[in-house]
Amino acid sequence: MSENTTDVLVVGSGIAGLASALAAAREGAEVTVATKATRPEGSSSWWAQGGIAIARDDPEQFKADIVEASSGTADHEAVDVLVDGANDAVRDVLLETLDVEFDEAEGDDEFDFGREAAHSSDRILHVDASTGKHIHVPFLNYLDDHEHVEIRDDTAALELVRHEGRVYGAILESDGEFEPYYAGATILATGGIGDLYPRTTNPDGSTGDGIAMAALAGAEVTDMEYIQFHPTVCVAGEARSASKRSGDAAERDSPFLVSEAVRGEGAVLRNGDGERFMPDYHADAELAPRDVVARAVKTERDETGEVTLDVSPLDFEGEFPDLVDKCEDHGVDWEDGIPVAPAEHFLCGGIDVDDRGQSSLDRLYAVGECSRTGVHGANRLASTSLLEGLVWGLRAGEDAAGNDVETIEAPELLERDPELPENFAREKFHRLRRVMDEYIGLERDPDDLTRAMSVLRRLKGEVDAYTRTRTSRSLYELRSASVTSLLIARQAAENDRSVGCHHLVEDEQDPAESTADD
Ligand code: SIN
Repeated sequence: MSENTTDVLVVGSGIAGLASALAAAREGAEVTVATKATRPEGSSSWWAQGGIAIARDDPEQFKADIVEASSGTADHEAVDVLVDGANDAVRDVLLETLDVEFDEAEGDDEFDFGREAAHSSDRILHVDASTGKHIHVPFLNYLDDHEHVEIRDDTAALELVRHEGRVYGAILESDGEFEPYYAGATILATGGIGDLYPRTTNPDGSTGDGIAMAALAGAEVTDMEYIQFHPTVCVAGEARSASKRSGDAAERDSPFLVSEAVRGEGAVLRNGDGERFMPDYHADAELAPRDVVARAVKTERDETGEVTLDVSPLDFEGEFPDLVDKCEDHGVDWEDGIPVAPAEHFLCGGIDVDDRGQSSLDRLYAVGECSRTGVHGANRLASTSLLEGLVWGLRAGEDAAGNDVETIEAPELLERDPELPENFAREKFHRLRRVMDEYIGLERDPDDLTRAMSVLRRLKGEVDAYTRTRTSRSLYELRSASVTSLLIARQAAENDRSVGCHHLVEDEQDPAESTADD
């Protein structure tokens, strides 16, 4: 195989990308994994806390919980694929191949199964509250040693190489140099869109690259309005973090997630007056569906100044030592309650795929958060994202192996210019995040969505004009962010049904007109 070709090109290195690489390699394919990440922490999977849900011995109830959390909008066939494949995928890959040591139980159960919001039973495998890294690191190490897999880190995909509805690979950028990379099949596993919001649980660089590349190549992208906000992200002393890749040195907050598992163990939410409020919002109180809890936390913060997570009902130190360490690192005195707020967490929609991860374009697959399998509908059940990545990753990798590599003429990229002017990127990201935060957050007003579309359309035009004159990774990330946010705005504006993460409110006033539009 020549230097710039591979049987299967996987873009992204979270659990979905790694599972597809593993499955393709098991089929005998040569696999290249191209990832922007330079460390395991660069991938969302590393940050996953709660864990990975499995079917145990009651798959039908697990399916019912997924559908219920989505307010009946999840695709039943996709849910069957997920749940029917869960136990085998977890046993095969996580237990037998990677030897992940999930927390064990003291009684009859083999494992200490946890519970999170909207689950009707304990079915979540976890390692303390840092499950992601305990899966992700051994997975990376395993594939690093695999004779059929090459992992190229600090490598971005800028554009798909395509012709007449078929994808032949991607233009990869590494160290400022870019070149076409041809593959029998290309699998996008680029993760989420956290960089589009000021507060997120995603790592830096979550600019929706795969979704933008696929959409620009003509692939179908759907359900983009269903963006999940996690209700409990610690915001004590919200540090202003640098997000250099996004050209934004002083804007993104760096909060940290406080897993829903903590509420699963009994923690309660209190408002600024010290009152527990969730029973007033939902019969399941703190374990109501995530969108309900997130909106309630926002309302109580707006009305009473703050919301804290009271962990006194549980043995926080004994159950969640990793979170205790995190609190201490951030100077949070958890015994007084952890100050929390909602933050962008997970995109339920994305590149439309079938039950094997195949997109609407030939030889293009998508897996994990950048894909839309239909499992989540309008709202995702907790601890199903690692599972979805694993199950669909395996299916897509197996399906993608075995295609011949063909080369075609790749698009010409302009002369490289790694020095995207700081101010240009900072100003554009700043404007984009304000629009997303003010107009397309937890609650949406139809008029605001129309306004958002026109601001984002203008912004995309400005970024496109720049892209026509130069090439750099950060410029392409900005382009991905602008394409993806416009898709979100457009699909949100087109959906007049308030459901799950797409919560519509009446147009009471127009507070944002003079701010986000500026
Ligand atoms: C959490 O631990 O609360 C997050 C789990 C998830 O997003 O599925």
